[in-house]
Amino acid sequence: MTIHRRTVLAAAALAAFAALGASPSAFAAKPLVIGFSQVGAESEWRTANTVSIKDAAKQAGVTLKFADAQQKQENQVKAIRSFIAQKVDVIAFSPVVESGWDTVLREAKAAKIPVVLTDRAVNVSDTSLYVTFIGSDFVEEGRRAGKWLLERAAKTPDANLNIVELQGTVGSAPAIDRKKGFEEVIAANPRLKVIRSQTGDFTRAKGKEVMEAFLKAEGKKINVLYAHNDDMAIGAIQAIEEAGLKPGTDIVVISIDGVKGAFEAMIAGKLNVTVECSPLLGPQLMQIARDVVAGKPVPKRITTVEGVFPAEVAAKEFPNRKY
Ligand code: AHR
Repeated sequence: MTIHRRTVLAAAALAAFAALGASPSAFAAKPLVIGFSQVGAESEWRTANTVSIKDAAKQAGVTLKFADAQQKQENQVKAIRSFIAQKVDVIAFSPVVESGWDTVLREAKAAKIPVVLTDRAVNVSDTSLYVTFIGSDFVEEGRRAGKWLLERAAKTPDANLNIVELQGTVGSAPAIDRKKGFEEVIAANPRLKVIRSQTGDFTRAKGKEVMEAFLKAEGKKINVLYAHNDDMAIGAIQAIEEAGLKPGTDIVVISIDGVKGAFEAMIAGKLNVTVECSPLLGPQLMQIARDVVAGKPVPKRITTVEGVFPAEVAAKEFPNRKY
C-alpha cells in the first residue's frame, strides 16, 4: 500500500469517527459486559460481597448488569436467561442452591457465553458448563470450626458437650459443606453430640427464632451453638440473652464469616470464635472475566485464603477488618 493511500484511509477513518461524534479512542476497547446474579441480601457477608463486586466493576471499567435473586433459584434462572438474551460477555453468579442448574447452563454454553461461579458451587454432571469457580472451601471452614471445638473440649475432658446447629439455606453449598466438615472433625470425640440441627436460612431473624425453639426444647442442656454464619449467631445470641443465659459463657458460640458484627460480639464476650469466609471476591472476578474473554487459560478452582479468629484476638484484629 502506498503512503498516499494509507493517509487517505486514515483520514477517511477519522472523518467516520467525527461523523459519529466519537473520538477514535472510544472505539479502541469495548467495555466488558458482565451479567451477575446475586443470591440476595440475607446477611452482612452478602452485603459486603455485593459492594465488592460493584466497586471492582466500576474500578475495572466493566459494565455490570446486576440482578438480586432474593434467595430464589427461579429468579436466578430468569436473570441468567435475560443475560443470554442481552448477549453479555460473561455470566457470573453465586448460586442459591447447588442443584438444578444443568438446563440453563447448557443454554449459556450454546450461546457461547462463559460462566464464572463465585462464592458457591453447583452440582452439575458436566463441569464444562462453567469455566471456573472462585470462592472459599466451605468443608474446610466447617472443619476449622470443629477443630476449634475439639481443642476447647480437651480442656474439660470429663464433660459431655451438647451442640445445637443452625444450618444455612437448605440445599446451598455452604450449608451442606459446613455441616459435613464440622461433623467429620467432631466425630473424633464421642463426648461431642449434635442434639438439634435446623436451618436458620443465613438470616439474623431466623437464627433468633430457631434458637428460641432450641432453648425451649433443650433449655440448659445446650452447651454449644454452631452457626453456619455470623448473622444467625448474632440473632441466636439475642435469643440466649432473652432466655436469661450468657452467650459465650453459658453457651459457647461458634460461627463462620468474620464480619465486623461478629468481631463486636466477640469483643463484648458473647461469641467465642469466628471462622473467616471472605466476601471480597470482586477484584478476582473482574480479572478472571477479562482473562476468559481474552482466551487465556484459567484455573478451574480458585480457593480463597482465610483464617480463624478466636475472641482472644478480636480487639486487636478489629481495626484491620474490611467487611
Ligand atoms: O455463601 C456464603 C454464605 O452466604 C455466607 O457465609 C453467608 O453469610 C451468606 O449469606
